[in-house]
Amino acid sequence: MKNKSVYICSECGYQSARWLGKCPGCGSWNTLEEYVEEETESKSGAAVVTTEALRLRDVKEPDNIRKKTGCSELDRVLGGGLVSGSAVLLCGEPGIGKSTLLLQICAALSSGGSVLYASGEESAGQLKLRADRLGVSSGDIYILADTNLDSVIAHAEKLSPSVLIVDSIQTMWKSGMNSGAGGVSQIRECAASLIRYAKENDVSVIIVGHVNKEGSIAGPKILEHMVDTVLYFEGDRRQSFRLIRAIKNRFGATDEVGVFEMCGDGLKEVKSPSELLLSGRPTGVSGNCAVCTMEGTRPIIAEVQALVTPSYYPSPKRASNGFDLNRVNLLLALLEKRLGLKFSTHDCYVNVVGGITVDEPAADLALALALISSLRDIPVPDNAVAVGELGLSGEIRAAADLDRRLKEANRLGFECALVPKRNYGKKDTVPDGAVPLGSIFDAIRIFGK
Ligand SMILES: Nc1ncnc2c1ncn2[C@@H]1O[C@H](COP(=O)(O)OP(=O)(O)OP(=O)(O)O)[C@@H](O)[C@H]1O
Ligand SMILES: [Mg+2]
Ligand SMILES: [Zn+2]
Repeated sequence: MKNKSVYICSECGYQSARWLGKCPGCGSWNTLEEYVEEETESKSGAAVVTTEALRLRDVKEPDNIRKKTGCSELDRVLGGGLVSGSAVLLCGEPGIGKSTLLLQICAALSSGGSVLYASGEESAGQLKLRADRLGVSSGDIYILADTNLDSVIAHAEKLSPSVLIVDSIQTMWKSGMNSGAGGVSQIRECAASLIRYAKENDVSVIIVGHVNKEGSIAGPKILEHMVDTVLYFEGDRRQSFRLIRAIKNRFGATDEVGVFEMCGDGLKEVKSPSELLLSGRPTGVSGNCAVCTMEGTRPIIAEVQALVTPSYYPSPKRASNGFDLNRVNLLLALLEKRLGLKFSTHDCYVNVVGGITVDEPAADLALALALISSLRDIPVPDNAVAVGELGLSGEIRAAADLDRRLKEANRLGFECALVPKRNYGKKDTVPDGAVPLGSIFDAIRIFGK
């Protein structure tokens, strides 16, 4: 009998029935690897009963299903804590702080049973050094420096911890496979074994996955549908600001973020991200505009910066950091068409301060104002914050959660909020300091011309 094989791209997870030189998914060359699907015993018909079907009302409610990680920012992203028997994938770029975070939460997690930290990247001594630096000393924490997954699981079976951490999936390998550690087949098989172990023993398993610089979850992409929760660690490695976002969560909402700051003694929770993002903000400079975006249920005030300069290139340069470049291009076209501004002869650079990403249309107005401000070299008032999505004809569309955004702006001392008129009906009273705007034509009046 022949085994079924598929070819999987190690960069993006694209699957194909035959080998291809170039991946149609991401365009990389020579990245498709053969993956042979494991043969299961009962393929030839006779079904084997391995588990009983239960009547829903007879299923016992598990108690203590969520374990607190001792880090409320992370607990919130997880949906209230780490669910026992669940598999969590923590992804992030090299050096962003994955191992740091996991080692930090070990102490709190070990209060309800031991924690086994299996590392294929660092030796036990290196982990000890880090633990000392982070102040993680107490607790029932076991360290295992090993890259053989069968051995990791054997240790776990002996120890029966309540949480198993595997750092990272790309360093793990199983014997009896012809591809090396980090290959698609190895990653998939190792993860499948870990997930099986988690479900069968009711142990929470946290798997670390590296992502490549393009931001796609390279190997881990193929794991996304296998695990229960996918967390993504983001931020600029050269800066201290870090966000954790749930991309998928079977046990909670996916729109929550956890905010951290990387310090010498580890990751610190940040209760007021806006303050951190706005600290040291320049005043009276053109090209800047504050925006209040929603990260899940939390309003965060960030600063959008634009630099618009005459272009000496046949096609002007556009670059963006923290904003979708397509959106930037669309807004530039819109401003050119509706307001007759000559962006087409200018290079435009856009940046969101703090290394955060703003992917909300309600940030359009702030970006548009920053661009116009830089082009005309007139500052947006420092005490103003802008919220609103721009439609293609220049209308400003209503924004969700406006009250919460205004409250945050107020708390941080912004005196003026440029907001969509469409958020207010005829009878609604507009709060103090809010300036309702119908379109971009209304908005440019703040520049006095
Ligand atoms: N002695 C130190 N003092 C201050 N900060 C440190 C120190 N050592 C490491 N860091 C910070 O921790 C970061 C590395 O964290 P960590 O090793 O947890 O990242 P990681 O995501 O696990 O990386 P990798 O992908 O290499 O495993 C560094 O980028 C640095 O910011
Ligand atoms: Mg690490
Ligand atoms: Zn690909």
